Amino acid sequence: MVSTAQNVTPPVLSGYTYIRPLGSGGFADVYLYDQSMPRRRVAVKVLRTTDLDSEALQSFRAEANVMARVSSHPAILTIYEASISADGRPYIAMEHCQSSYRARCKSGPIPILEVLSTGVRIGGALETLHQSGLLHRDIKPSNILLTEFGLPVLADFGIATSVESSGTDVVGMSVPWSAPEVLRESTIGTVQSEVFSFAATIFTMVEQHSPAQIPGGDNSREAMSARVIAGRLQPITRQDVPAQLTAVLNRALSRDPRGRQQTMAELVWEFQRIEQSLGRVPTNAEVTVISAPVDGPVGDVPKRVSVDYQSRRPAGRPSFEAPRAEEPPSERASSHVPWKAVVLIAVSAVAMGVIVGLSIALWGS
Ligand SMILES: Nc1ncnc2c1ncn2[C@@H]1O[C@H](COP(=O)(O)OP(=O)(O)OP(=O)(O)O)[C@@H](O)[C@H]1O
Ligand SMILES: [Mg+2]
Repeated sequence: MVSTAQNVTPPVLSGYTYIRPLGSGGFADVYLYDQSMPRRRVAVKVLRTTDLDSEALQSFRAEANVMARVSSHPAILTIYEASISADGRPYIAMEHCQSSYRARCKSGPIPILEVLSTGVRIGGALETLHQSGLLHRDIKPSNILLTEFGLPVLADFGIATSVESSGTDVVGMSVPWSAPEVLRESTIGTVQSEVFSFAATIFTMVEQHSPAQIPGGDNSREAMSARVIAGRLQPITRQDVPAQLTAVLNRALSRDPRGRQQTMAELVWEFQRIEQSLGRVPTNAEVTVISAPVDGPVGDVPKRVSVDYQSRRPAGRPSFEAPRAEEPPSERASSHVPWKAVVLIAVSAVAMGVIVGLSIALWGS
């Protein structure tokens, strides 16, 4: 049974007091609850379905386990609990966020530096998912939330897969950010289709509409889908967008997946290079790997493999490393002169001279 947003009521959850609705999506409703212990406000996302078959239920549980693990990533929404309510609806209790990038996109132009830093942070989260063998499959502005501290976090991965496996048309709901090969149903998702969706999301932050949408035009699912499949995407028109960012996004939005950046790390690295060329210290990309399978031992935690911008480039992968933007080349060059060694050699030479001189003087006498 799948209900609509209008005829569902918030579930009664032990230990939580319902406060108010936060919003509704295509397959779930989100409510604000007060958790009693520890005392805090939490967002609870409740699926509208109650008839998950055993396979879908197993998938929901498996994805919830992965979400719990990856939620320690600083750019992934923190999950507190995943369970099934007494009336049979799967739900996830999570960190309450103040806003989303869907709301930010609607409220006016987002500064380019914010777009870039969000691109690096969320790109790091997506690279973490990919390195852990997961795909998000629903990357879009409404799934990038802003925490109470104003930091961007990735939300809503995993649960979409569970719903999809029970037959709900999840992919179709995100046409404006879907890759052409996904819309053609050649694949349900790849790393390259995620690169496309993420670039379409970043494009939306820049232009306030997705590359598939024509402001004031026909934006029906069919029309947008046809445009994306044909490669007829909207151009970037905003005046203050650096040419490099336009080039990076155009490449990531290539119709042919082989023409795109092949990993999220590559895209992240390109965003960092743009930040650097704008005279900013590049935002750090946090990348972690889940070190155990989904059903691995309880307590196994993600292993941090590549953390900050200054870390070494892993063989065969794009690096997050580059010189610091604020450090002038002359200072960089001077910092590489081995002054300690020069002083040591000079002192040694003087000492040798004194010893030789004394020896000659003694010998002569
Ligand atoms: N953790 C949260 N804190 C605060 N608001 C949230 C949270 N999670 C989701 N919301 C809000 O709830 C609403 C519905 O979210 P939901 O994820 O169900 O749908 P969506 O991402 O908007 O769309 P779709 O279902 O098509 O993916 C959105 O307006 C979102 O901003
Ligand atoms: Mg969402």
